[in-house]
Amino acid sequence: DASDIEKGTYPHFMLKEIDEQPFVIRNIISKYKDENEDIKLDEDIRQTMLDADRIYIIAAGTSYHAGLVGKQLIERIANKPVETHIASEFLYNMPLLSEKPLFIFISQSGETADSRGVLVAVKELGHKALTITNVPGSTLSREADYTLHTYAGPEIAVASTKAYTAQMAVLAILAVDTAKAAGLKMDFNPLQELAIVANAMETLTDKKDKMEKIARDYLSVSRNCFFIGRAIDYYVCLEGALKLKEISYIQAEGFAGGELKHGTIALIEEGTPVIGVVTQHHVNLSIRGNMKEVVARGASPCMISMEGLAEGDDALVIPHVHEYLTPLVSVVPLQLISYYAALHRNCDVDKPRNLAKSVTVE
Ligand code: G6P
Repeated sequence: DASDIEKGTYPHFMLKEIDEQPFVIRNIISKYKDENEDIKLDEDIRQTMLDADRIYIIAAGTSYHAGLVGKQLIERIANKPVETHIASEFLYNMPLLSEKPLFIFISQSGETADSRGVLVAVKELGHKALTITNVPGSTLSREADYTLHTYAGPEIAVASTKAYTAQMAVLAILAVDTAKAAGLKMDFNPLQELAIVANAMETLTDKKDKMEKIARDYLSVSRNCFFIGRAIDYYVCLEGALKLKEISYIQAEGFAGGELKHGTIALIEEGTPVIGVVTQHHVNLSIRGNMKEVVARGASPCMISMEGLAEGDDALVIPHVHEYLTPLVSVVPLQLISYYAALHRNCDVDKPRNLAKSVTVE
């Protein structure tokens, strides 16, 4: 029961939950590992993934952002087409479904009404559904054919942190399991690589002073903030912006570096904070080009880069992890920066105004 969960020495649940992420990832590794160090997964889920000719991921909020990363993982690793949709929009703009669709619902709470609306509709059409959730007995879990547990432990803060990274870890494991079952050659071992991720997360949660300083320097007075990234980093920027909006009420937008010139650059003024994220070699030059464009218009740049791609004046360098798993690590500084920005602005970090932990109405 949520009321039994204690903050311990932490001032807020959010900070505690950010710090728990390395342990959650290690927990997921142990839950999804068999005695031969292989992936342990329900045989029916494996077969259902194999049988599907297209996967439709349905989710809301932060879980939707995990779903965007999930699409990349399943397509690149398991070579299966995936679409990721916002739950509340899906039924209005229902795509033409493939012959053997599989629906994957991602939901921390398992109670989001918009996601459930889609589940009910696709079950009526006779389709299979798998729910990835932190609450196995939840509505979405009970009503789907299968459930994968994210094992993040109760998440109390309204702004989701550990559930998001846990969802992506489970999606990576699922993607590799499917690839292996399909007989694809696989040199990416998610269980080993996730262990490296857990260590990298710890390195970052040990640098809270640095994140607090970034929040102070860039966000203590600003009205807005932009996050830019390309490829998978773009999805993390969407999540970084959502975190900042949710708890600090700073107007924040995450966008693809290439879209800057199509509108957003008009908003850049003297001192506008722009947080750039880069973890992928192939977009390093382009995103740095975008940062130069905004700096030339007066923006205050804060570049977060991965080891190996870093340049001299980057604000923060994150440890190197496998290219598929970088979102799990690059999001940690964004979570912490949002936390401290909210704290400095005296916002109610764990219970932001107007928001609910799970939205059980349409
Ligand atoms: C609410 C919460 C968000 C969450 C979203 C989806 O808006 O405030 O943190 O991401 O619902 O919730 P779910 O439980 O389905 O992941």
